[in-house]
Amino acid sequence: MKKVLITGGAGFIGSHVADRFLLNNYKVTAADNLVTGNIDNINRKNINFFNIDIRDKEKLEELFKSERPDYVIHLAAQVSVSSSVENVLYDAEENITALINILELCRKYNTEKIVFSSTAAVYGIPEEVPSRETNKTAPLSPYGLSKLTGE
Ligand SMILES: NC(=O)c1ccc[n+]([C@@H]2O[C@H](COP(=O)([O-])OP(=O)(O)OC[C@H]3O[C@@H](n4cnc5c(N)ncnc54)[C@H](O)[C@@H]3O)[C@@H](O)[C@H]2O)c1
Repeated sequence: MKKVLITGGAGFIGSHVADRFLLNNYKVTAADNLVTGNIDNINRKNINFFNIDIRDKEKLEELFKSERPDYVIHLAAQVSVSSSVENVLYDAEENITALINILELCRKYNTEKIVFSSTAAVYGIPEEVPSRETNKTAPLSPYGLSKLTGE
């Protein structure tokens, strides 16, 4: 059975992604500190839940060591444009430093694939809607910039 780790698994998108992997018979692990997520989104399902903060590299490494995920769906993030303006450092720790932690652990524990979720905020004022990945990026907020850095 293939194993998938979903960071932000108790969030809006993460909990639905978890459902889809369960339907396809994956072993699903969710890592979430519930800062905006809700345990009720996943607690009735066959999901291995870790209440951890992805900025905590040691706890994250314990999880990688025990679970050895084949795939990582990385959704945990600071997700608010206005909050990113109010607290730039928190945004950067969540969306840049924590991502680096995860990428390093994926390499160390031979994760086959990682999926990263960016945002339309990387385009600033979009050239066209819906935007294309080839459109010019010009973020107007720390959130847009931190996600672009992640890309
Ligand atoms: N919903 C959208 O329209 C949208 C659009 C573009 C991009 N995204 C991206 O998709 C991803 C998921 O967004 P969402 O809408 O489901 O948001 P959400 O807030 O519902 O989910 C984010 C989850 O991450 C968790 N989280 C945040 N910081 C964490 C940390 N340090 N450690 C552990 N868990 C942490 C939260 O508790 C939450 O459960 C995000 O990366 C977001 O930037 C969402």
